[in-house]
Amino acid sequence: MNLDGKTEVYGLIGYPVRHSLSPVFQNEAFRHFSLNAVYVPFEVKPEDFETAFRGLKSLGVRGVNVTLPHKERALALVDFVDPHAESIGSANTLKFSKEGVYAYNTDWIGFLKAVKKLLPQIKGIKVLLLGAGGSSRAVLYALKTEGAEVFLWNRTKEKAEKLCGEFGCKVVEKPERVLKDVMLIVNATSSGLKEDDPPLFDYSLLLPEHRVMDIIYKETPLLRFAKAKGCPFQDGLDMLLYQGMESFRLWTGLEVPYGVVKKAVLDYLYN
Ligand code: ATR
Repeated sequence: MNLDGKTEVYGLIGYPVRHSLSPVFQNEAFRHFSLNAVYVPFEVKPEDFETAFRGLKSLGVRGVNVTLPHKERALALVDFVDPHAESIGSANTLKFSKEGVYAYNTDWIGFLKAVKKLLPQIKGIKVLLLGAGGSSRAVLYALKTEGAEVFLWNRTKEKAEKLCGEFGCKVVEKPERVLKDVMLIVNATSSGLKEDDPPLFDYSLLLPEHRVMDIIYKETPLLRFAKAKGCPFQDGLDMLLYQGMESFRLWTGLEVPYGVVKKAVLDYLYN
């Protein structure tokens, strides 16, 4: 990488950001197209977000991804909000231009592209979605936009009720109650990140017909059960890559091949 006076700066703003894979594959995307650009992580505490946002503008940074805990805050500060980001209520991609700052959400696109590898046709299918946090909003928006029927379970029921009021889904008391009815199961909670997290439901009730997706990008206990039962399954890595590829396209107008970013991440993780 040859940095010079013309290098364009992109980045990721979040707290924490040190373990993020985005710098790994976004920089590979710049290399792939021989662009004079660099993507760096910026660790910014919640109370410093507004100052950092103004700083990015003053410094001439071209674009950033926004992650926890700033995704909602970003919407209020920008000049233009993409309608999908508006509906989801959060932005994960900002583009700085002469006309102003644009906010987009590419998480929902990342989710859709990833889930369609498991299930090409989403319209009309029944889905059990676990979780009602920030990530669930993007997943739910994607599923509803495609015409799925969503059953939503969350540990804190009030949050599930609020989300279903907004997006039109059915709150379930216990995931086990709808297992026989659904084709797709999506974990959008952070449970499973740690090995000793309690299971979200009795995973031994999974059926081989279930498609199972976890937005966490590692083999969670849920995915291990899915594998053992013979269910088609997927972790969150593809969702991460596809959301990043879409951010890259919004910044540069270029479509980086999936194989390029996937290889960069796998080399980083396993070589
Ligand atoms: P994110 O933006 O990643 O979705 P979040 O907004 O903090 O993060 O949401 C975390 C989600 O994981 C919530 O649905 C949370 O459930 P609560 O609303 O009840 O807090 C869920 N979650 C986290 N840990 C969990 C656990 N051990 N069991 C069940 N749900 C859990």
